[in-house]
Amino acid sequence: MSNNYKESFEKTKIAGSIAAGALDEVNKIARPGISTAEIDKICYEYINDYKAYSAPLFYRGFPKSCCTSANHVVCHGMPSDKILKEGDIVNVDVTAFKNGWHGDTSRMFKIGNVSVKAEKLIKTTYDSMMKAIKLVKDGIHLGDIGSTIQSHVEEQGFSVVQDFCGHGIGRTFHKEPNILHYGVKGTGKKISTGMIFTIEPMINLGDYKTKTLNDGWTAVTKDKSLSAQFEHTIGVTKDGYEIFTLSNTNN
Ligand code: MF3
Ligand code: CO
Ligand code: CO
Repeated sequence: MSNNYKESFEKTKIAGSIAAGALDEVNKIARPGISTAEIDKICYEYINDYKAYSAPLFYRGFPKSCCTSANHVVCHGMPSDKILKEGDIVNVDVTAFKNGWHGDTSRMFKIGNVSVKAEKLIKTTYDSMMKAIKLVKDGIHLGDIGSTIQSHVEEQGFSVVQDFCGHGIGRTFHKEPNILHYGVKGTGKKISTGMIFTIEPMINLGDYKTKTLNDGWTAVTKDKSLSAQFEHTIGVTKDGYEIFTLSNTNN
């Protein structure tokens, strides 16, 4: 794996930058009155303009180009005519497929002014992801990533979703290993130079349990409490990591 990973890193960065750029476009229009379908259209068009594909579209039958997960939706929310209103928080998750490689990223968007609790949930979720990313280097254990996220989040009184996880990514959208966002330091497989995977913690204000709605996709918190998520695609190097889904204007 560690031989010759440069090409996979370069290609993932190209796909990742397109995905991040789509989220920058979303950032420009995320305000009260916009529908999640409009967000989907912006993502589809931006990615198409870069001659890339939206990997979620038709993935296992998913009908849209991105996931829009508002308020108590944990992940895999489907863009629809639903109008976002003042105080909503929404995760937009975009995956671009370009030249055979994937870049997967998501961010939270605040619709107008949001509650203090929602602000704190969003900040804690972002910080937990970044804290875990900063640990990444050849030889650490997967449990180091999970335990860092879990302890940061639980110290703030929030909970880590266990039903969904990060994942290896590359020519395939989702592959080994699973990246759990909870766990025990020093346990689990060791990661090695050249690996590419996502870290994408889903954090709930209340209980960690989720359920999936009848559409077969939309995952919500069982207790209807707010949920937040951020995601980056990263590569492992000998001394650290590279983030492939950075953008010019955010994160
Ligand atoms: N982008 C999601 C992830 O982070 C997967 C979405 S699959 C879809 O892995 F089909 F719901 F789009
Ligand atoms: Co992902
Ligand atoms: Co994603």
